[in-house]
Amino acid sequence: MGFLVSPMMSLFSKVTVLLLFVLWCASFTSTEAYDPLDPTGNITIKWDIISWTADGYVAVVTIYNFQQYRHIQAPGWSLGWTWAKKEVIWSMQGGQATEQGDCSKFKGNVPHCCKKSPTVVDLLPGTPYNQQTANCCKGGVISSWAQDPANAASSFQLSVGSAGTSNRTVRLPKNFTLKAPGPGYTCARAKIVKPTRFMSTDKRRITQALMTWNVTCTYSQFLAQKTPSCCVSLSSFYNDTIVPCPKCTCGCRRNNSDSGGCVEPNAPHLASVVSSLGNNNPMPLVQCTSHMCPIRVHWHVKLNYKQYWRVKVTITNFNYNMNYTQWNLVVQHPNFDNLTQTFSFNYQSLSPYSAISKLHVPCGWFYLLYKFVSFSSIECKMGILIMLYFLDR
Ligand SMILES: *[C@@H]1O[C@H](CO)[C@@H](O)[C@H](O)[C@H]1NC(C)=O
Ligand SMILES: *[C@@H]1O[C@H](CO)[C@@H](O)[C@H](O)[C@H]1NC(C)=O
Ligand SMILES: *[C@@H]1O[C@H](CO)[C@@H](O)[C@H](O)[C@H]1NC(C)=O
Ligand SMILES: *[C@@H]1O[C@H](CO)[C@@H](O)[C@H](O)[C@H]1NC(C)=O
Ligand SMILES: *[C@@H]1O[C@H](CO)[C@@H](O)[C@H](O)[C@H]1NC(C)=O
Ligand SMILES: *[C@@H]1O[C@H](CO)[C@@H](O)[C@H](O)[C@H]1NC(C)=O
Ligand SMILES: *[C@@H]1O[C@H](CO)[C@@H](O)[C@H](O)[C@H]1NC(C)=O
Ligand SMILES: *[C@@H]1O[C@H](CO)[C@@H](O)[C@H](O)[C@H]1NC(C)=O
Repeated sequence: MGFLVSPMMSLFSKVTVLLLFVLWCASFTSTEAYDPLDPTGNITIKWDIISWTADGYVAVVTIYNFQQYRHIQAPGWSLGWTWAKKEVIWSMQGGQATEQGDCSKFKGNVPHCCKKSPTVVDLLPGTPYNQQTANCCKGGVISSWAQDPANAASSFQLSVGSAGTSNRTVRLPKNFTLKAPGPGYTCARAKIVKPTRFMSTDKRRITQALMTWNVTCTYSQFLAQKTPSCCVSLSSFYNDTIVPCPKCTCGCRRNNSDSGGCVEPNAPHLASVVSSLGNNNPMPLVQCTSHMCPIRVHWHVKLNYKQYWRVKVTITNFNYNMNYTQWNLVVQHPNFDNLTQTFSFNYQSLSPYSAISKLHVPCGWFYLLYKFVSFSSIECKMGILIMLYFLDR
């Protein structure tokens, strides 16, 4: 006697898999400082001392984003630390300290920053040439390693005074903090490592840093946000019922509608609320929904054949505070080993584990507009609400 797997049966098993996927999405948020999809992902900050000065040193600081898919988006990174002694920053290139602090004891030359715990940010695009360094001036935006390794680093140069002037007397800065943007990263102590070697552009000469230290920062979704930032809803060609995002996935609606929490899409004060918060504010301002998530991923099983199945993924932005750019969607699914085709978007497998794959979906605004009119398996709707809203205004 044969055993027949009916299409309904196999669909059922797929839906089970999808539900597991939802559970995974929720549990992902409570794992601390460890991302199963990118276990070695980290941001490494490297300080290379390139020369000693009369009262300190000149260093090039480079932030490398070694995370596979988590990029740093506008308004960009900010890096803080606490000096070990009474160091000051005489000058900076390709970055700036956000506050000068009290430099009143300096006569003549006034330092760029005298704070014990300075915070440095990137300069904006269009910075004059003489204030730039390599890899600077992108407003603190850094790509992820998988998306664009060429743009996965950011650097600035600083001249430090009242510091040690040899590799025995210099003291390493302490207590590094990285906001990228908003909380989420924890940085380890700075560690002296082998001096970096630099190759000249014609590859005929190698120079090396006088001294190098590294700081490694790792991301924890739990630190960044106690609740998930997305939810998944499901449907299939086979049944009209949509399984919505679970209620209160990212928070519950507060009863008092005026006291924030969320905004009704047709609220008269929406324009003023949104403009008062400024663009790309890290705090989400979500549209009122039962799930209260800034992002919803809808997974629709379009076809379910014996040989293959096809899914349409729709991503909706419910966050009035954010235009998501260069985003990517990470999906874990047992069948993605055999993913044969994605439409409209690039995709790439996350290599560490063969069973873990990802859809790599870079796209921006104009691309989105184009996507709305085309018919494809994977549609990108990130930002549609914000866009409609601004078109309406
Ligand atoms: C940081 O990431 C890089 C690149 O993936 C890896 O080589 C390095 O070991 C990681 N560092 C730590 C401390 O995990
Ligand atoms: C400091 O420099 C000396 C000689 O230049 C070298 O032998 C030593 O390893 C260096 N120490 C550190 C911590 O880099
Ligand atoms: C390290 O930085 C954090 C945040 O800026 C601060 O709360 C903490 O007190 C600092 N710790 C030390 C030892 O400076
Ligand atoms: C220090 O960081 C640089 C750049 O990320 C990396 O190439 C080097 O391997 C790191 N060194 C150690 C010992 O982690
Ligand atoms: C669709 O799904 C709902 C909920 O699971 C179920 O009650 C209904 O009978 C299904 N309809 C069909 C046509 O299978
Ligand atoms: C808010 O609370 C009032 C009374 O406490 C109740 O009548 C109303 O239904 C609640 N509204 C919502 C949306 O829960
Ligand atoms: C989103 O992008 C649109 C179009 O580029 C722009 O007009 C709007 O100000 C942006 N909104 C935010 C919150 O950055
Ligand atoms: C991928 O497809 C091959 C043959 O088409 C099959 O043998 C294999 O089990 C599939 N792998 C997964 C993970 O589904």
